[in-house]
Amino acid sequence: MRSALLALVAYSSICLAQVPVPPLAEYAQRRAALQKDLDGVVVLFGWVEESDEVYRKFQQSSFQYLTGFEEPGAILIVSPKSQVLFVSPRNERRERYNGKRVAAGDADAQQKTGFTEVLGVEKFEARLSKALEEAAPIYAFPNDTVTPRLKALAPLRDIKDLTPLLAKLRMKKSAAELETIRYATDASIQAHLESWKRLKAGNYEYQAASSFVQTYTDLGCEKPAYAPIFGSGPNSTILHYNSNRRRMDTGDIIVIDAAASCGGYASDITRSLPINGKFTARQKEIYDIVLGAQKAAVAALKPGVTLAQLTGIAKKYMEEHGGYGKYFIHGVGHHIGLDVHDLSTAGPLEEGAVVTIEPGIYIPDEKIGVRIEDVYLVTKDGNISLSDKLPKETPELEKALAR
Ligand code: GLY
Ligand code: MN
Ligand code: MN
Repeated sequence: MRSALLALVAYSSICLAQVPVPPLAEYAQRRAALQKDLDGVVVLFGWVEESDEVYRKFQQSSFQYLTGFEEPGAILIVSPKSQVLFVSPRNERRERYNGKRVAAGDADAQQKTGFTEVLGVEKFEARLSKALEEAAPIYAFPNDTVTPRLKALAPLRDIKDLTPLLAKLRMKKSAAELETIRYATDASIQAHLESWKRLKAGNYEYQAASSFVQTYTDLGCEKPAYAPIFGSGPNSTILHYNSNRRRMDTGDIIVIDAAASCGGYASDITRSLPINGKFTARQKEIYDIVLGAQKAAVAALKPGVTLAQLTGIAKKYMEEHGGYGKYFIHGVGHHIGLDVHDLSTAGPLEEGAVVTIEPGIYIPDEKIGVRIEDVYLVTKDGNISLSDKLPKETPELEKALAR
């Protein structure tokens, strides 16, 4: 699948592509991994439908991670001995609007969900009481709006934060997850290349963004991994600028921080380019310091290191090359996965983690912002880049823009 997509990247015409997704059986393996050494009862709530839902909504990412179940109104219980999916009651009118949904008691409910126990949500309280006979605390997300109500259901139980348990599992990507992340990354590379064709003085930022969105959509990706950032000139210094309304001008640099979400998984790539195809000497000077800082951080990226340490390495490099550390005002990277900023804790990186490395220097007075962001898989003794096919040395970028 990967080589098929890379062939697409090589030719700029776009064909139909099948987005790879993790198989249903993998979700049961993830729940089994959560059950290992579990000393309590995990309770998670899925996304909740509004009465007049007109936008496409996506599952809450941790719920997605443990179930793969995309329908609204579901609840999950995982205890040491049980895995239970609770689903909304059948609502035929809703199904006329949204298509057929799983209901408890459907003959194919188990086969469709991969759960042996599929119950209606009305059974939740009783089944939770039973699960609590197995183990003491409840694990939930403290910021979940429903968590205070759990306290009322089981007033004598501690409610502990589920984040560390789940972050540890979500950090290490499976082979199937990696295949999907590679697809999202390759599609994002292709979309960057297409958007670059529209970098021209007089064009609007949104026109370049439009080519970006069209390209990943043509490759079967469902949404942007985050609002695409096409920040030219002064906007290159605004970290998450995404209104994309400005008319690009000759002499501008543009920060393009954009990526697709495909098969549920995000990528996250940034390039900074000259609108007229040639970096000025000053833009190139800043660019090469950011690139050097990225290379220094990537050289240290391996199991055991923390993202905070890598931020320190990138900042030190900038300090030692012109004293630019003060213009680097964010962390050097983050985990990616189901979320572009994936669930994680501050601890050391492990083999199988996928992270971004994205140093930047932003000088508003000079209207120069440069960020370079790539995606890396942490391997046993180092890392590999998943986005290195997208040019990033200044001569390569100028060559790509000349075409
Ligand atoms: N695109 C958001 C980020 O780089 O973190
Ligand atoms: Mn990022
Ligand atoms: Mn980004």
